[in-house]
Amino acid sequence: MKSLSKSLKKSYFIIILSFILLFIASLIVTGKYVIDINKIKLRDAMSFLDYEIGYEKGDKTPEIFTGNLVKTDFKKENISLKNMDLIISSKNQEYSERKGEIFRNITPDNKIKDLDIYEYLVLSKKIKANQGKILKVTLIKSLKKEKYLFIKIIEIFCAGLIVTIIISMIGIKYFLNKIKYQLNILENINETIDLNNLKSIKPKNQFIEFENICLSYEKMLQRLDEQNQKQIEFVNNASHELKTPIFIIGGYIDMMKRWGKNNKEILDESINSVEDEVKNMTELIEKLLFIAKNKEVKVEKKEIELSEIIMEILSKFKIIYPKIKVNFNPEYVLIESDEGLVKLLLKNLIENAIKYSNGNPVNIYLNQNENNNVILTIIDKGIGMDIAEQSHIFDRFYRVSKSRNKNIKGHGLGMTIVKKIKEILSIDLTIESKKNQGTKVKIIF
Ligand SMILES: Nc1ncnc2c1ncn2[C@@H]1O[C@H](COP(=O)(O)OP(=O)(O)O)[C@@H](O)[C@H]1O
Ligand SMILES: [Mg+2]
Repeated sequence: MKSLSKSLKKSYFIIILSFILLFIASLIVTGKYVIDINKIKLRDAMSFLDYEIGYEKGDKTPEIFTGNLVKTDFKKENISLKNMDLIISSKNQEYSERKGEIFRNITPDNKIKDLDIYEYLVLSKKIKANQGKILKVTLIKSLKKEKYLFIKIIEIFCAGLIVTIIISMIGIKYFLNKIKYQLNILENINETIDLNNLKSIKPKNQFIEFENICLSYEKMLQRLDEQNQKQIEFVNNASHELKTPIFIIGGYIDMMKRWGKNNKEILDESINSVEDEVKNMTELIEKLLFIAKNKEVKVEKKEIELSEIIMEILSKFKIIYPKIKVNFNPEYVLIESDEGLVKLLLKNLIENAIKYSNGNPVNIYLNQNENNNVILTIIDKGIGMDIAEQSHIFDRFYRVSKSRNKNIKGHGLGMTIVKKIKEILSIDLTIESKKNQGTKVKIIF
């Protein structure tokens, strides 16, 4: 893993390096341009002299050595020549605008050379004057000014670069310190915050990015807090639900101890009640365990016959709720699903229809739609629910106003289980209900 400061420094040095390379490249291009331009001027001036000395004014050669011809004619006619120095020599005569041996010793090979590392450009050539006299003509173009300018530019650039490096080093250090400070705050938050200490994060942030991280931390912690609260509520409700049967069992044991030995009626009643409560508790614990299993319910899909399962459930409910009539026409329908989960789903839904049917018959229909999906509808004409009540039925331990179902046993966990199975098996389940009119549950497998 890379550290922030190292990465930042690396990118910074890459930027500086590219900057230097770019500068060097532009210096080379401009330098080459300046030299090329001057080379062209030298050539141009030399051709001019070649023509003038060789053809036009060859007979005036002596005047060249006095300098008159150079100053009055040549330099006025050719603008490039004005800024150049000229040395013209024959065997015994010389006209020279430049002192120094290095200029005099140039070989007249008609090639442009540089002296003192491009301080001068020189071009030397032998020119035949009109009377057959051979003259050595040397042209010197000084690049001193240009070179001086270049050196100045390089000096200014280097100074600027050093200043920039120093300032940005300080800037980077300052910036890194700020980031480190913010990261320390975040690290502290991680270490000090737990589910019992959620609300105390509000660090001062200079950077919007950190502010956003803190905000998302806060949101995450709030979510965790809510989940935690729900978990606590669940445990409280579960303990409360379990306390009731234990309390009742305790009561009956007490009764048996006191009167059970002599009174057979009391003994029988107590034993039956204890048995009931144990059943009740076992069921509750099974439900709690199913809900508590977090997404790790095993699903084993296979072909199952739906009517068979419904008949099996109904036969059990016939014993528990003998007064309620359930109408169902079994039809041979196969679905691909998990048998255990489908049984649990239907058991809860059919039991609710029976429990809250207010004594009216319950109807169960099995159909298939145009897409060949199996549709199961469970309809009761019982106490029903209004919209507000319906919105809560999937909540753990929720029961519609206790006074209404005072005599109907339940823990408010059945629909929570239904919801979980619906999600696991991706079943389409809709509930329509009207208060005092009844409830219709439609399941599409
Ligand atoms: N078919 C129904 N008709 C009327 N109310 C219902 C029906 N099904 C569920 N409910 C309401 O939803 C609540 C939650 O249902 P459920 O989770 O199965 O809990 P329980 O049946 O143990 O009370 C029930 O207490 C009841 O008030
Ligand atoms: Mg129920």
